[in-house]
Amino acid sequence: MLEKINELSQEINTFSALSNEDLESFRLKFLSKKGLLSDLFEDFKNIAPEHKKEVGQKLNLLKQQALEKYNTIKSSFLVTDEKSEGTDLSRSSYPFQLGSRHPISIVRNEIIDIFSRIGFIVSEGPEIENDDHVFTKLNFAPEHPARDMQDTFYISRLSMEDSNPEDILLRTHTSSVQVRVMQSQKPPIRTISPGRVFRNEAISARAHCIFHQVEGLYIDENVSFADLKQTLLFFSREMFGKDTEIRLRPSYFPFTEPSAEMDVSCKICGGKGCNVCKYTGWLEVLGCGMVHPNVLEACNIDSKKYTGFAFGMGIERLAMLKYQVNDLRLYFENDIRFLDQFKTAL
Ligand code: DAH
Repeated sequence: MLEKINELSQEINTFSALSNEDLESFRLKFLSKKGLLSDLFEDFKNIAPEHKKEVGQKLNLLKQQALEKYNTIKSSFLVTDEKSEGTDLSRSSYPFQLGSRHPISIVRNEIIDIFSRIGFIVSEGPEIENDDHVFTKLNFAPEHPARDMQDTFYISRLSMEDSNPEDILLRTHTSSVQVRVMQSQKPPIRTISPGRVFRNEAISARAHCIFHQVEGLYIDENVSFADLKQTLLFFSREMFGKDTEIRLRPSYFPFTEPSAEMDVSCKICGGKGCNVCKYTGWLEVLGCGMVHPNVLEACNIDSKKYTGFAFGMGIERLAMLKYQVNDLRLYFENDIRFLDQFKTAL
């Protein structure tokens, strides 16, 4: 029996496994219930008592040796398994260039996020519109200068002299989405409409023929100018910081009455005056007002029962204030060196 134990000890000692299958056959051969070690322990029962001590010790050592061999090989397999799982050998050794969101998308998402917290949902409308949605239903007089070819890109115009509700054009503002929403939904309505708009302007640092706006609309019973002011104050403080103040200056838009323009206190100088706010302490950010009864009626909403407010802001304008990038063209050129600077923003 001792001879047999020595023989097996040598075999175990020289054993090496290249695969899990090799290791498993080792386990079956030596360590399983029907394996060689079990057989030896079985034979051990018949050993003469005077040899029991010596043989027993050797047999236990053999078992320990087999177990150690098995466990060592098994754990080395586990380590290499983990290593190879984490290594993608097909991957380029150059670091990946991560993209970044466009600053206009970042600011648009922030605006949507703020208004969604007070119950505004997003609605969208087409960029190619007709005069009816962009001007007529918004109470623009037929001879209003915004309808001029100088200001608006027409796709088809029925008469060169007069404008017509069926004229097809590129929308000049997102206020057209107000009309579509009011025509298709019943109050209460609480919506914002981000989108691209087009105006026939020469491109410069301060003007572009394409830019982005966000329109807001709230229609219900008893909506007041105080609601408008409070909503805009909430928005401004979320967007520009909790110490931000707002002021409303009387203005004119055909589709709101009364109308106002809103300024926020300059966050660069804290209202003291600097070259960003042109030493006024205030920055103009949006137009707003109470929806004109003519607009409500044109969209089949009872202006005796319902009132509402609307506002519209330029996303480039807000991005300029936020990032101090004052050349509009940079937002459209998609120069990677410019866009790369917004990597850390969400
Ligand atoms: N549509 C206006 C523009 O493009 C912005 C605007 C002003 C929208 C007042 C409104 C509003 O809804 O009430 O300049």
